[in-house]
Amino acid sequence: MTGLINFFTRSRCSLLGGIMAGVLLPVLAISILLDMQGVVQNPYFGFLIYLVMGPLFVLSLLLVIGGALFCGKKEDIGRLTVEYIKEELARPGHFTRIRKLIFITALLTFLTLVIVGVVTYTGFHYTESVGFCAQFCHRVMEPEYVTYKNSAHSQVPCVKCHIGAGSEWFTKAKFSGARQLFAVLLDSYERPIATPIDALRPERATCEGCHRPEVFHGDKLYVKDTFQEDEQNTHLQTVLVMRIGSGGYSGRQAQGIHWHVSEDHRVTYLASRDRNYIARVTLEGPEGRKTVYRRQGETQEPVEQKERLMDCMDCHNRPTHVFLDAGPALDAKLVTGAIPPEIPYIKRQALAAITREYPSQETATRGIAQELMDWYRQNYPDLVSGREELLKEAVLGAQQAYLENVFPEMNISWRTYQSFTCHQAEGSGCYRCHNDSLRSEDGRAISQDCNVCHVILLENGPARDIREILQNAAGAARGNNNE
Ligand code: HEC
Ligand code: HEC
Ligand code: HEC
Ligand code: HEC
Ligand code: HEC
Repeated sequence: MTGLINFFTRSRCSLLGGIMAGVLLPVLAISILLDMQGVVQNPYFGFLIYLVMGPLFVLSLLLVIGGALFCGKKEDIGRLTVEYIKEELARPGHFTRIRKLIFITALLTFLTLVIVGVVTYTGFHYTESVGFCAQFCHRVMEPEYVTYKNSAHSQVPCVKCHIGAGSEWFTKAKFSGARQLFAVLLDSYERPIATPIDALRPERATCEGCHRPEVFHGDKLYVKDTFQEDEQNTHLQTVLVMRIGSGGYSGRQAQGIHWHVSEDHRVTYLASRDRNYIARVTLEGPEGRKTVYRRQGETQEPVEQKERLMDCMDCHNRPTHVFLDAGPALDAKLVTGAIPPEIPYIKRQALAAITREYPSQETATRGIAQELMDWYRQNYPDLVSGREELLKEAVLGAQQAYLENVFPEMNISWRTYQSFTCHQAEGSGCYRCHNDSLRSEDGRAISQDCNVCHVILLENGPARDIREILQNAAGAARGNNNE
């Protein structure tokens, strides 16, 4: 025992390492145990264990061993050289001493390896977790985390899309991740984060781990609910059959919306940095047939030098971070009853309240409640005194619509981030390419025929039972055929 203590205390290095290790070991062991049991849920806890205490512990062990082997007292230098071992082996009485030394060194090396292994493995997993990605850099990632939690992908870990398989994206992601950590520490990150994001950009293969457009087929019925800004908050519906189509598979032809991602042809384009302005589209068909659609007249915005091959993100840029516009955000609350639609003028008043500018989410929460309660107190005092519960529910719904989509701290307002799977404004979404300004040599434009992408069964009609809507549509179609 005294031998062991001597071994460690021969240099100041090892002594320091020994003290550090002695303090850290129990704390670390208990922390890891608590973490594995899921007792402590705070994301900073993981950071502390795996990225601070873990590496420190490893360092302390290295100090102990390094100190003992290399910074010992003069006479101990060269303890493990071959000559020394030969000499020691040659002296019969000392054989046990060298064995002890080798044994201690082996044991310490083994222990270090195990601990280094566990710490890096768990540390690595920690940096891959949703907790690390989203909650550690809370303010920066909050908008993405909140929208993600409300989306269809809320159970898909961030890294599945942002890193995916393959070492190339892995290294790109870790490097840019490290840069981002510094940006957060130095408070130098951009607000809002500019898109498209390059190093962490999800690629086609990551989506295709779960979705395979070549086997999609057929059409899909979309029902969109909207509420008007009148006293009754009139409920309207738009019903579309979206031509989801397919990328073509085992002899089946690529068709419909997912025709773009078929293996049989390539759609490439030249665009501005944010990809909202497209200057040239090239379609390469089978047998090298090539059609180039060029923007007529002068190009109005600077475009990137590199052609981009169209992939999922050119339409699905918001598959999970879905930021709604104010109207649709309220419609979503009204259709589920989170905001009771029987309150007169609630759509109009809530829209006015949530589209004001607020410096923070806290002031918005208070401001929205104040504005709505004041207005109803003035204009519908009976409602406030008789059915205050209903109004409180509406206030909560309006606040949620705001909190889920607007993040003043990151300069994210209504419509800061927009989806490409739409054509809300001229030249937006699909209409970035499907427009009249891009023309081929022989003067053709990319189709804007409404029926190429969807069949509209009802546009802003009164909300009814879906069977009635379908029967009416079928009747109208039969009428057209008979003409
Ligand atoms: C279903 C796939 C998917 C998942 C899961 C996902 N993201 Fe994203 N994320 C995307 C796509 C696609 C973009 C847009 C890329 C672009 O425009 O270049 C994006 C963009 C971002 C951006 C840039 C800002 C923005 O809103 O465009 C951040 C930050 C981000 N994601 C963080 C996260 C975090 C944190 C998580 C986990 C909580 C996460 N992502 C989960 C697909 C995903
Ligand atoms: C780990 C598996 C996984 C990955 C990776 C993934 N998704 Fe999904 N995706 C899902 C699941 C699960 C759903 C939900 C299906 C449902 O609710 O019916 C979904 C739903 C969708 C939907 C329908 C959305 C909606 O609101 O109904 C779209 C579009 C979509 N994903 C696109 C993408 C794109 C684009 C990517 C690549 C950036 C991607 N997904 C990556 C699993 C995944
Ligand atoms: C040309 C634009 C475009 C491209 C490229 C595209 N999609 Fe889509 N996709 C759409 C539209 C539009 C819809 C239907 C409307 C919606 O979901 O918003 C859709 C629907 C989907 C759905 C939901 C299908 C369902 O039955 O609910 C999934 C999943 C999906 N796409 C995955 C992908 C994947 C994966 C890729 C890349 C390999 C891809 N898409 C490429 C435009 C596109
Ligand atoms: C980067 C440019 C680009 C964007 C963005 C784009 N498209 Fe296209 N799309 C094309 C080109 C090019 C064609 C082929 C035109 C031709 O046949 O000459 C096409 C053809 C189509 C077709 C017909 C496919 C077939 O069966 O022949 C559909 C449907 C379609 N697009 C839907 C969409 C939808 C929906 C969106 C938006 C979500 C969209 N496109 C966005 C370039 C684009
Ligand atoms: C290039 C494909 C394409 C063409 C051409 C096109 N649309 Fe659309 N349209 C879409 C997509 C994609 C959506 C969004 C579906 C979604 O929200 O998921 C949409 C949505 C709509 C909606 C529902 C609006 C809403 O609230 O989301 C209406 C109405 C509509 N389109 C009308 C038209 C009309 C009218 C035309 C012809 C002048 C037309 N579209 C041409 C792709 C197209």
